[in-house]
Amino acid sequence: MKKRILAVFGAGGLARELLELARIINNKENRWDDFLFVDKQSSDISENDTKIVTFEYIQDRKDILIEAIVAIGQPLIRKRIYKELEEKNINIVSLIHPDIVIPKSTKIGNGVVIQSGCFISCNVIIEDYVYIQPNCNIGHDVVLKKGCMISGLGNLAGAVVIGAFSFIGLSCAIKEGVSIGDNSIVGMGSIVFKDIPDEVIALGNPARGIAKNNDGIVR
Ligand SMILES: CC(C)(COP(=O)(O)OP(=O)(O)OC[C@H]1O[C@@H](n2cnc3c(N)ncnc32)[C@H](O)[C@@H]1OP(=O)(O)O)[C@@H](O)C(=O)NCCC(=O)NCCS
Repeated sequence: MKKRILAVFGAGGLARELLELARIINNKENRWDDFLFVDKQSSDISENDTKIVTFEYIQDRKDILIEAIVAIGQPLIRKRIYKELEEKNINIVSLIHPDIVIPKSTKIGNGVVIQSGCFISCNVIIEDYVYIQPNCNIGHDVVLKKGCMISGLGNLAGAVVIGAFSFIGLSCAIKEGVSIGDNSIVGMGSIVFKDIPDEVIALGNPARGIAKNNDGIVR
């Protein structure tokens, strides 16, 4: 039988955290035989007992079954890698901490990460490639659009909408019914009372747009 490998794209802190989640899941479900980090350059020095290989390496290995997940915070890099994975027909999987309770009315897409300690309410829509970091509160009727990232301690009230590939910084609170546009960045610690449009950087309490998100890089 072919070995089942989880390829975690990235080799930084977020990727090491995701590896720990994968190990917790594996202890319960035995989904993979081994793990790899995928980065720009391979390395013989392993990160947390896990080898770093390149994307080419996993594409060339026909003798193993690869499942992939992206653990990179930068939205544009995440978007590019997911596109490449789709084009190469690599199987993208979700990693959800086993202690998380998902109500029946909540819908979760593919390639979704939900880290430990999150509360996910009812009638929530979580689209493909959404990444929810630890200890977030996702209120009822929230919509998390494709590829957005909610950093740790995010507090999203009912019916909040987060746009595709937007980045919500650490410890943000967002008022009920508020929408954040696509490709926007909300700075850490922001308290958001009003809608934020597409492609802006917004921050503060109350959060206000401070700039156009020109380069898409989260600093
Ligand atoms: C919002 C953010 C992207 C802005 O980065 P930037 O464009 O490089 O902005 P700068 O650092 O040049 O800061 C511009 C001004 O805004 C202030 N500022 C920056 N981030 C802020 C924030 N989150 N809240 C309030 N003020 C902030 C700076 O102090 C600076 O003020 P000044 O002009 O009076 O000196 C960044 O600060 C941020 O919050 N990133 C997210 C970090 C995060 O949550 N990481 C998650 C890890 S899991």
